[in-house]
Amino acid sequence: MYNEYDKESFFKEYARMPRSRDGLAAAGEWHQLKPLFPPLAGKSVLDLGCGYGWHCRFAADQGAARVLGIDVSRNMIEEAGRRNADPGIEYRVCGIEEYEYPEHAWDVVVSNLALHYIADIGQVFKHVYRTLKPGGTFLFNIEHPVFTAGVGQDWIYREDGTPQYWPVDDYFKPGERKTHFLGCDVVKQHHTLTQILTGLLDAGFKLNAVEEAKPPEEMLNLPGMRDELRRPMMLLVKAEA
Ligand SMILES: C[S@@+](CC[C@H](N)C(=O)[O-])C[C@H]1O[C@@H](n2cnc3c(N)ncnc32)[C@H](O)[C@@H]1O
Repeated sequence: MYNEYDKESFFKEYARMPRSRDGLAAAGEWHQLKPLFPPLAGKSVLDLGCGYGWHCRFAADQGAARVLGIDVSRNMIEEAGRRNADPGIEYRVCGIEEYEYPEHAWDVVVSNLALHYIADIGQVFKHVYRTLKPGGTFLFNIEHPVFTAGVGQDWIYREDGTPQYWPVDDYFKPGERKTHFLGCDVVKQHHTLTQILTGLLDAGFKLNAVEEAKPPEEMLNLPGMRDELRRPMMLLVKAEA
């Protein structure tokens, strides 16, 4: 399975991002995502597209009994083992589409910024519903449909190089989007809001929370961050099996 994160140039650029250097504290959505986590002490937690393993480490630090982080990228899983190893965490190279999703196996399934790489998101929701114990929590953060429907996922710029507006096109046409991210051509998947929310309801979930991430006050003076208030970039959802 091809993955950009296994391409050396992309992997190196990703390592330079604030969230890669400084972890969850540097992630613009963390102040909204963290309070949505249920108590994790003694719980089993599955992380889909775990990357460097920051959320796995968080779960282990909260006292989770068992944590499994899966990711399709060998690079990312190796980095997770270097940065966020813990005796209670297993990291595994495995695609979100390929994982076996054993029935009623997990208390919590988390996924941060990975599901916009998945074409058939409805199928993943069904799998997650099956693998959660009844009453279990599915907490995820996905690129917002307004962001994934962006044209090339970029602003239209004024002559002086400042962002003029965020273009949205072909919103109702879900599927592949060719984007330019971290200097590389990256393929992502656009899902409409209806697809995401109805997909969860059709799988059997109850919706507990839906939030659109905004950067916290303390990040707003960082370069470019004020523009992050002009269009949504991330959608946070908490659902109950
Ligand atoms: C933006 S990173 C987020 C990593 C991590 N969840 C975090 O928040 O720090 C996206 C991750 O999704 C992984 N990914 C992309 N497609 C995947 C797939 N089909 N199955 C599993 N992981 C995938 C990438 O390898 C990458 O590690």
